[in-house]
Amino acid sequence: MTTVRPQDPAGPWLLRTEHTVYAVRLGGEGRWAELAAWGPHGAETGPSPLDRSRRTHFITPADAAPAEYIPYGLRPFTGADLTVRRPGGERGLWWAFTGAHYDEGIALRLEFTDRPTGLRTTLRYATVPGTDVLLRWTELHNAGTEPLHLERLDSAGVTVPVQGGARLTYLAGQWSQEFGRHQLDLTRGRFEMASTQGAPGHAYAPWLAVQDAADADGPAYGVALEWSGNWHITADAEPGGAVRVRAGRVPHEGAVVLQPGGSLDTPRLACAFSPEGLDGLSRVWHRYERRLAGERLHRTRKVLYNSWEATGFGVEADAQLELAVIAAGLGVELFVVDDGWFTGRHDEKGGLGDWRPDPAAFPAGFDDFIGKIRATGLEFGLWVEPEAISPASRLYAEHPDWVYRIEGRPATLVREQLLLDLGRNDVQEFVIGTLDRLLTGHDISYLKWDMNRPPTERGRPGAGPAGELDLDAAHVAGYLRVLDHLRDRHPQVTVEGCAGGGGRIEHATLARTDVVWSSDNTAPLDRLAIQYGYLHAHAPHTMSSWVTDAPGVFDPRPRSLAFRFVLAAAGVLGIGADLRHWTAEQRAEATGWVARYKQERDVIHHGEARLLGTPADAGCGVQYDAPGGDRTVVAAWSTGRLDGAPLVPGRAVRLRLRGLDPGARYRDTATGTEYSGAHLLHYGLPLAWTADHDAELVTLVRQ
Ligand code: DGJ
Repeated sequence: MTTVRPQDPAGPWLLRTEHTVYAVRLGGEGRWAELAAWGPHGAETGPSPLDRSRRTHFITPADAAPAEYIPYGLRPFTGADLTVRRPGGERGLWWAFTGAHYDEGIALRLEFTDRPTGLRTTLRYATVPGTDVLLRWTELHNAGTEPLHLERLDSAGVTVPVQGGARLTYLAGQWSQEFGRHQLDLTRGRFEMASTQGAPGHAYAPWLAVQDAADADGPAYGVALEWSGNWHITADAEPGGAVRVRAGRVPHEGAVVLQPGGSLDTPRLACAFSPEGLDGLSRVWHRYERRLAGERLHRTRKVLYNSWEATGFGVEADAQLELAVIAAGLGVELFVVDDGWFTGRHDEKGGLGDWRPDPAAFPAGFDDFIGKIRATGLEFGLWVEPEAISPASRLYAEHPDWVYRIEGRPATLVREQLLLDLGRNDVQEFVIGTLDRLLTGHDISYLKWDMNRPPTERGRPGAGPAGELDLDAAHVAGYLRVLDHLRDRHPQVTVEGCAGGGGRIEHATLARTDVVWSSDNTAPLDRLAIQYGYLHAHAPHTMSSWVTDAPGVFDPRPRSLAFRFVLAAAGVLGIGADLRHWTAEQRAEATGWVARYKQERDVIHHGEARLLGTPADAGCGVQYDAPGGDRTVVAAWSTGRLDGAPLVPGRAVRLRLRGLDPGARYRDTATGTEYSGAHLLHYGLPLAWTADHDAELVTLVRQ
């Protein structure tokens, strides 16, 4: 590696994003790298807030340092990012700095070597153009002669200075309750989120925001891990007024073995900053995800109808067609047949793996059925769960060895199914072959990829010592390979990511899918809370959402059809209700909402989104500003908090908008009411909720 020193050897390396700077320097006489500054441009000039007296008592200087990435050995007490066990059991690494490569302002590589083991560790930094995101990851290369067991192999660590403890915001829940927004103040001790489910899971999103609890409306720092497998994020409150966040993979086998000559890249950790608190931070993430979508951002996300909630496993051509005809009449553009279309799939027990259309469901043939759907003017989409296999399937009878299993141990069924070992090349080829056959053999333009069970009994008998397999990374690589294949080979097919709702949503998936399904819970008030949390981390153009008939799983209070349409329109609108039972009035209202959404979806998917209020307030909304600010769309909901407003004493709830030009005038296109920007910023947009009027989609045009 070329050694390029900073111009001023005492000064830091600077990485500049659109509005922020991240400054790194060597610490400990060159034994590790540490953070000097992270904030708005210019924040690097002046003494670092992370500087300390350098006097440490009972701990080492490295334990107190704002280390960027540091091995156990150098940092024995307060948390290391890399723990490596040698064959004899010794665990420490002690680094020497062996070079840097600096692409000024844009990218940086810092290399450290542990001479006795020969392990070379390179810290990688890359800015993402057009965003305020810095990507960090670590490369490990075993240039020694003995296998090394990586027990902890995080991607990166970041340190945030705080004066009043750290205010942590995280997204947590369970199946059907994903993305609940939670906060806690960490003044001492450790906070940890993790998943060993071979997927991010429903319990926590691999995403964390950090603020100073003493300034909770102040700057916000965020991290998000790009990894579809096991993961953890830890935050340690450090005694001297800082919180140190570490994130990375969690090896299934307890350690990843790096053989002599072997190399490994950790997943990337996206690091984001905004001076404008959580609200600003969400927009940094949204912009980053628009960039992740690349060219496909500009592909119109069609209004879909999905028949799962209407017909469940009882897929049958005539009923599906009846639904499609009604949906087409409402202005829907795409019809998706969910689970239940293939042989043996009468309930949860069978069929997975045997991906052939069930002739009993489509007596005139599958292509005839698709042709009839298309004749209504709708495109056609299909659900698959490529990693899943039913014990009763033909696939299982033919390939019992393709399933994760441990010799002599029972196989646990989750949702009556097992999981294919997608890390195996032959399984990947089977999945690719199956999807190619479906997508080339039939007129399919949309694929929903679901996954409904985590791996249990995760083993691959006969493949060598179990401790050396790294099955989690192999599964992730197989999953991403198939998704990449879909993009290359079937670029016209829109892909929806799903894992029993929102169980696998992170940047690796988002970079390879067009939309994701955030939760199986489509009940109005529950969904409002889910989407509110989701939009903190993820962009509206990724958020598939349906209008359904479902009452609340956690809150059974009903909401109007308008509420449900405005809620689904806050992302990518779909309908999942049983339209056969809708009245003519409901259908007419739905037609109006679909048309209205189509008018505004460009602003919703490409604009800057701001979260207004919270589901715990009487009013809650999302403001979307078109690029340039000429058009603003506000989706607003009455949360049902019975606080009297607006009935007694008769005043409207107000949602204060943000980011508008105070001197400009804005006209509500529906009512003609004109507001000054100053009024909307100061008093807010009035929303006169009543028992029947509980949602609005307001369009404001700048005059
Ligand atoms: C779980 C998904 O989240 C649902 O939308 C639906 O596709 C079912 N699986 C089908 O089994």
